Amino acid sequence: MEEALINVLPDLETLSREAAHFFVKLSSASVQGKGIFSVALAGGSTPRTLYQLLASSDFKERIPWPGVHLFWGDERCVPPSHRDSNYKMVQETLISRITIPPENIHRMPGELDPGQGAGLYEKKLRDFFEAENIPRFDLILLGLGTDGHIASLFPGSPALQEKRRLVVPASTEGARHHRLTLTLPVINNARRIFFMVAGAEKAGVLAHVLQDQEGSPDLPARMVSLAKGELSWYLDQAAVGLLK
Ligand code: 6PG
Repeated sequence: MEEALINVLPDLETLSREAAHFFVKLSSASVQGKGIFSVALAGGSTPRTLYQLLASSDFKERIPWPGVHLFWGDERCVPPSHRDSNYKMVQETLISRITIPPENIHRMPGELDPGQGAGLYEKKLRDFFEAENIPRFDLILLGLGTDGHIASLFPGSPALQEKRRLVVPASTEGARHHRLTLTLPVINNARRIFFMVAGAEKAGVLAHVLQDQEGSPDLPARMVSLAKGELSWYLDQAAVGLLK
């Protein structure tokens, strides 16, 4: 993995606050420079605190929401009102608490057949990012699964080999729902990634991802490699407990 900026904070609240400050800075600079800031959001429990902070009085007035476009990095194949929907989580923690044009919200259509949903979202990305071959998000948020997955790219999944498609259906053993996920070509073309990892249950996998040079090259999190972008890790003390 290339050189990255590693921020270690005491806990989830402080790491989320640090990430929120950087979100303000990046979104303001981007909107000032080119009029928009495109971000692909993560699901799971880790980014909830960040979303709540972005919607809080400390941060929300400092973010140029009319220029911010929200996309999703992955989604469960469920309707947007379903309790497992990543869109619903972001709607509750962030979108319902800020003023943002509805046309800036680009959710993954989890309610459709997975193949059709992936195709439609891919088209949406190609239209939004216009002529670009592979979309270049200003920011992609990622969490880390205890098995090393990112977005809905799971270890051993054929989706990890995808070179051409931007969005694919994905599934993993034991998961309640099929998923839709961005593919590695899109993730690795981002201008910036925030990788947010908190909690002792992530310490083992994080040590593999960051320090195990020989082992587990096929861990999805190790396949994140930004040739033309920058990676910022936001880690808490518990997650770094097994790093040497
Ligand atoms: C999702 C994800 C997924 C998540 C990890 C970590 O939709 O679930 O985007 O990749 O980031 O599973 O999840 P936690 O933050 O809940 O540990």
